[in-house]
Amino acid sequence: MTALIEADELVRIYEVRRGLFGRSSPVRAVDGISLAVMPGETLGIVGESGSGKSTLGRMLLGLDPAQSGEVRFEGSPMPKYGTSGWRALRAKMQLVYQDPLAALDRRLTIAAQISEPLDIHRLVPKEHQAARIAELMAAVGLRSDQAGRFPHELSGGQRQRAVIARALASRPKLLVCDEPVSALDVSIQAQVVNMLRDLQEKNGIAMVFISHDLKVVRNIADRVAVMYLGRVVEEASSDVIFRLPQHPYTKALVSSVPIPGKPLEGRVILQGEPPNPANRPSGCAFHPRCPVARDICRTSVPALRRTGNGRTAACHAVAGETASVETLRRRA
Ligand SMILES: Nc1ncnc2c1ncn2[C@@H]1O[C@H](COP(=O)(O)OP(=O)(O)OP(=O)(O)O)[C@@H](O)[C@H]1O
Ligand SMILES: [Mg+2]
Repeated sequence: MTALIEADELVRIYEVRRGLFGRSSPVRAVDGISLAVMPGETLGIVGESGSGKSTLGRMLLGLDPAQSGEVRFEGSPMPKYGTSGWRALRAKMQLVYQDPLAALDRRLTIAAQISEPLDIHRLVPKEHQAARIAELMAAVGLRSDQAGRFPHELSGGQRQRAVIARALASRPKLLVCDEPVSALDVSIQAQVVNMLRDLQEKNGIAMVFISHDLKVVRNIADRVAVMYLGRVVEEASSDVIFRLPQHPYTKALVSSVPIPGKPLEGRVILQGEPPNPANRPSGCAFHPRCPVARDICRTSVPALRRTGNGRTAACHAVAGETASVETLRRRA
């Protein structure tokens, strides 16, 4: 089966100026990432702030160009941003991000926002539009009397539901959700996540779900990729990641997630500075914070290896067989 979306060795380097008059220096935001998402599958992406999650999400949609590497959608190279080929694909891949107020046009009613993609992509004859809008609003749990409201007349959760309804209007095959519930009240986060999961399952949509909140990711992802400073350090099924984390960084992240009804035991506290992509440590970038770092970790970058249980991990302390891009892609 062809992956819906695949990335091969993606690299994105930003030139960032240091200080007001300082010279620019390169920041490797995404530093050689390969992954594949099958139709209908949800891949969770986790990692601390600055690890490159949002940059990767934008690159998967062709919104941010790769310096090297390639993204393929249904086996074909992603057309360049803004070209007619890219615009045609755009209907099939949608982005939902953290801030619904910024994503919505504040001068348009909710119904008008949802009808926009229907018009742009000429998806539904005019006479059927009202019915389709009502259907989409019902699917995300908005009431029909909210159709004439403006974004500022809705709650944060309702706004995000409107954004999701608009994203679904073009019947996408892929949704990239970048921290979609982080700005919402904790009490409604679970509702919106459950709704997303139901819609995704019902419509067979593949999803890349980016979040720093592991509880949310565990609830929604089939597989999880853990990022550290622009690279994937471990990838496996959600069950394996949360039950048997292998990379010391994953262990630290997972150990801080409370399991309902269980006390937090064996919590690994991450030491040292949070990662700074402008100042990447030598060797394994995680070594200054790693409780099991050895000499080799300071000098040599560990390769992503297959380490059993359908997992890949990049750690000198973990033995395994080197995984080629080909095997990474086929693994799903
Ligand atoms: N447009 C840009 N110009 C320059 N640097 C950028 C740009 N976008 C991101 N970066 C840098 O690239 C790195 C990765 O950023 P990114 O936003 O992808 O991280 P993230 O994992 O999404 O973080 P967060 O959890 O805070 O959202 C950061 O160091 C960031 O400062
Ligand atoms: Mg981000």
